[in-house]
Amino acid sequence: MIPFSDPSASYKAHKIEVDEAIQRVLDSGWYVLGKEVNAFEEEFASFHGENLHSVGVANGTDAIALCLRSLELGHGDEVITASHTAVATIAGIEQAGCTPVFADIDPVFRCINPQSIEDRIGPKTRAIMPVHIYGQPAEMCKIMKIAKAHNLEVIEDCSQAHGAEINGQKVGTFANLSAFSCYPTKNLGGTGDGGVILCRSFKLAEKIKSLQQYGWNEYRESISTGYNSRLDELQAAILRIKLKHLCNDNEKRRLIAQRYNHDFKNLPITLPTQKTNELHAMHLYVIQCEKRNELLKHLRSKGVGASLHYPLAVHQHAAYTNRIRGGDDLPVTEQFYQKNLTLPMFPELTDYCIEKVISNVQKFF
Ligand SMILES: Cc1ncc(COP(=O)(O)O)c(C=O)c1O
Repeated sequence: MIPFSDPSASYKAHKIEVDEAIQRVLDSGWYVLGKEVNAFEEEFASFHGENLHSVGVANGTDAIALCLRSLELGHGDEVITASHTAVATIAGIEQAGCTPVFADIDPVFRCINPQSIEDRIGPKTRAIMPVHIYGQPAEMCKIMKIAKAHNLEVIEDCSQAHGAEINGQKVGTFANLSAFSCYPTKNLGGTGDGGVILCRSFKLAEKIKSLQQYGWNEYRESISTGYNSRLDELQAAILRIKLKHLCNDNEKRRLIAQRYNHDFKNLPITLPTQKTNELHAMHLYVIQCEKRNELLKHLRSKGVGASLHYPLAVHQHAAYTNRIRGGDDLPVTEQFYQKNLTLPMFPELTDYCIEKVISNVQKFF
């Protein structure tokens, strides 16, 4: 079966460097929050630009919660986001004690629709959390304008879009705070859980560093209630290597997407669209097809690991149904979830596998 994502291929592609880094950490005798984490934080921040700070954390869900907590947002504070996202986005918002509110998505680019954000703003709205879903940048210029007009915070969920750009500016740098997951399948993925926060303010970064360890100050006195959300040295050392290869790996993803787009262009499916002024991170290659279930079954029977991202939008999960404001008015999201289908996409996908995916999709029609 050709998988839709393959973290082991990423390890094999960088095996010598990764093995050396693992040995270095094991030999060091220091395993959590140390030199490697510090170096990763510096390298991750400067990858995104000047005068930025970053904090390595335990996972992307914690990164979201810590961003909100650092802004003193919590009980009663509403955060507008999309239901078309990983459940993790909503879990992170609720972990911080905030209340998620769902806005609809754009039918072509699949990210949160700025007009729908405006429609949902109410007296308790405090923040907007756009998700750069599948690697497609959300409409950050419009979103930042809305936030300014209504005095709202913006936290970008960049978990699927490491290295994506709008007009040469990397996602994660439009808002003051951004959360990234470094789960193994991500474009910047480790070999275990991991996450990172990007932030403009040194003071906020320091606050997050306190919150990630029980709210400690320098004397290990808890001055606020916090979490245990630390990045370990092994993950940091591996992520430093992956970061060096990220742009190249993203380019390989975009080239595979170009081949798919070219060979599928005459088929009755909707293809992911890329804007000319943007760099799509192409985390997932997701098409839309009327006969989605039949195509999924066909591809799996032919050894193509097509998948669904996701089988359900968040508001359709039992835990969230009828509970989240806005969840009863998401027509574009609901339509999308009847047709979405994910095809294999990762930088190490071989020509043979790409051809096999293409020919089996073509044979279906
Ligand atoms: C959009 C989005 N947000 C947040 C997360 C949370 O990341 P993690 O699984 O590292 O907690 C993920 C990853 O699953 C994600 O895809």
